[in-house]
Amino acid sequence: MRWGALGLPQPMPYKVGVPRPRPGRAEKMKHLQTLRRLIAAHVDARLQRRGEGQTEADPADGDLLEMMLAAGDANARLSTQEVLDNCMLLFGEGFDTSASALTWWIGLMATHPEVMAELRREVDTAYAENLDLAAMARLPLLNATIKEAMRVYPPSTALFTRVAKRDLEIGGTTVRRGTLVVAPIWQMHRNERYFANPESFDPRRFLPDAPAIPRGAFMPFGAGPRFCLGQQFASVEIALIAAQLVRHFELKLDLGEQLPQPFVDLALKPKTPMKIRFLRRNRA
Ligand code: HEM
Repeated sequence: MRWGALGLPQPMPYKVGVPRPRPGRAEKMKHLQTLRRLIAAHVDARLQRRGEGQTEADPADGDLLEMMLAAGDANARLSTQEVLDNCMLLFGEGFDTSASALTWWIGLMATHPEVMAELRREVDTAYAENLDLAAMARLPLLNATIKEAMRVYPPSTALFTRVAKRDLEIGGTTVRRGTLVVAPIWQMHRNERYFANPESFDPRRFLPDAPAIPRGAFMPFGAGPRFCLGQQFASVEIALIAAQLVRHFELKLDLGEQLPQPFVDLALKPKTPMKIRFLRRNRA
């Protein structure tokens, strides 16, 4: 698939130190304020409930907000502003991205029943052995399927950009200082120089005993000093949700359906609805 086919914007000319026109900024700030107000209302409501000592029987106990409010000790706690900022960050950076990763993982598992059957054995054994959550999140095939899904459908394919600090040459192309460069995660992940049969879904590439993947060829979370801050969080979150899905459901694509085409809407989303049947498993 070509760059433009994903709906990615054309790279913009960019000059270091020269402010760019930012059409739509006022509109964006308005939406940001709305979001901030909505999230602040949730945090306030929770703080009030906690203040009234009503946390015990609430289903929200143990959720992330509760953990952030409880983190630290008498000497060091997150301020309300820090809690709010973290909530904004999780919503802004960590919601669409993880949802995209899981969406495509679900689609790929529904279309690869042989991989799903193998994964079911791994996950069922882990449950039978009462593995704790940390060990569950490290299951080799589970992780390999998630990584391979993020290779084939990188959730943040348009977010990895840099500005050249000096004139340089990349693969024979001169890049002038100040140029905005987009690292094309999609193209890297589907380059047959790095991945044999790059279009096919093959989680074995990411099993512990598979040959090492060349540095920089697989980078769903970016690379370098601005590497994704939420990588650990997202990886554990996705693995635990995926394990639950494998444990409880058969995933089936509707008869005659194919996986939808992807398009970039900040995260990589299906262009048309992905129709998957979640059939509850009958375990003996
Ligand atoms: C599957 C899930 C996720 C994917 C694929 C993803 C991907 C990315 C990518 C490609 C970047 C740009 C990195 C670069 O320029 O080198 C990035 C940056 C970032 N991500 Fe994520 N992300 C995910 C989840 C999260 C979550 C859950 C959080 C927060 C808890 C998060 C927080 C951030 C932040 C703060 C940055 C900016 C880092 C910086 O500029 O220094 N991400 N992410």
